[in-house]
Amino acid sequence: MTIVLVGNWKMNGLEASLDEARQIAAEAGDASRRGVSLTICPPATLLARLSEAVAGTGLSTGGQDCHARVSGPHTGDVSAEMLKDAGAAYVIVGHSERRADHGETSAIVKAKAEAGLRAGLTPIICVGETRAEREAGKAEAVVLAQVEGSIPDGFASGQFILAYEPVWAIGTGLVASPQDVAIMHGAIHNFLVGRFGPIGATIPILYGGSVNAQNAAELLKTAHVGGALVGGASLTADGFLKILKVIA
Ligand code: 13P
Repeated sequence: MTIVLVGNWKMNGLEASLDEARQIAAEAGDASRRGVSLTICPPATLLARLSEAVAGTGLSTGGQDCHARVSGPHTGDVSAEMLKDAGAAYVIVGHSERRADHGETSAIVKAKAEAGLRAGLTPIICVGETRAEREAGKAEAVVLAQVEGSIPDGFASGQFILAYEPVWAIGTGLVASPQDVAIMHGAIHNFLVGRFGPIGATIPILYGGSVNAQNAAELLKTAHVGGALVGGASLTADGFLKILKVIA
């Protein structure tokens, strides 16, 4: 299966960052021949310009969130259809920063994932436990409950992607051990196969949380890890392309 490498720029990036995206795009065709798909999810303000700047290169773009509705009186929100119109192929939904900062429940995340599908985008549905939940021995139960509550009801091949991002590993330099990643990705994999049958095994499960060029190769070798969702190390072409180099 293709390795899925996604950069989440979060609330970072001004016009000058388009150059970083152009440098990443220059490697996207070669990456694809080596079995890696590259995607950058810039802030909404840059999405249209960045998508235009990299059009035709093989580098895909995505939004970082969407509203569940197509349009309407929702000041400050962006719909999945608007992301699509701006050139996106993907939309991240349910990132832990949105679950924590905006009170997004799994039911809300599910509605957003369904909005992404409705608009023709591939949702990247994020799940992950906090440090307290892991220390209480509840990591797997919390994550599987998030998966169950956040994914759309039906599934056809290639429709959505999951991303396991332990909250305590995001932006901290701490990375889940390959053993813990294998256990959690195995549990998610089993859940998806139980829910959707053999086709559930084709849903890529990305790992996210302090991924960089030093740890990416080992993480990507772990069972049921289909790619990585990268924050800080995706903000420069140098950081992102170094990860590409070690995984394929
Ligand atoms: P960092 O790679 O900066 O830890 O961020 C991970 C993340 O939240 C990606 O969505």
